[in-house]
Amino acid sequence: MDAKEMAKKQAGEASFRFIENGMTIGLGSGSTVYWMIRKLGEHVCDGLNVAGIPSSRQTEAWAKEFGVPLTDFSQTQTLDLAIDGADEADQSWNLTKGGGGALVREKIIAAAAEQFVVIVDESKLVDQLGAFPLPVEVLPFGWEVTAERIANLGAKPVVRQNNGSLFTSDNGNYILDCDFGTIHEPAALHQQLKQLVGVVETGIFAGMADKLLVGHPDGVDIRD
Ligand code: 5RP
Repeated sequence: MDAKEMAKKQAGEASFRFIENGMTIGLGSGSTVYWMIRKLGEHVCDGLNVAGIPSSRQTEAWAKEFGVPLTDFSQTQTLDLAIDGADEADQSWNLTKGGGGALVREKIIAAAAEQFVVIVDESKLVDQLGAFPLPVEVLPFGWEVTAERIANLGAKPVVRQNNGSLFTSDNGNYILDCDFGTIHEPAALHQQLKQLVGVVETGIFAGMADKLLVGHPDGVDIRD
């Protein structure tokens, strides 16, 4: 395992300390979350009683593989905890998310959680967001018009592709990866984008994180 993967494992596994018996947990997406789900599965095998709501089909598959019981929002509308990764985290813990294309469900889950724990390897820490192009989920109908409107806000949007076809999210939408350069005011940019017809959600998670766990190859910093 390389150093970056070790750092993801450290952060993912360390998040287990926030999980208590009886909790309903939002399960984020991505390779750091993988380590959290794997660890959670081990404890479920030992008798821990929890239920998870997955934020993507991939996360659902991992939860089933590791024996983590699942539920959905028809059963409960509040979560005790959500744990998720990020593509960037700035010094105020504003996040860019959506590198894996699961940003809408991830945000619904984070917003429904009493506590939102973010797990990242140290490479994700930045002074200001923006080096990672901002993922914006848009409706397929008229996406070209929506992309033009986003470009008018100062971005260079690129529609995400997967093996030569347009990438579709678990919600059946497209993702525009939008290079805005340095994002000086993440919350304000999010609000501007949300006002554009055709925009479903943005990958800016501003002021949502309650705890930030930063993994290193040999340990983890817990910031709260
Ligand atoms: C998916 C996400 C992920 O949390 C983000 O891409 C980080 O992934 P990884 O832990 O694999 O680096 O937002 O939509």
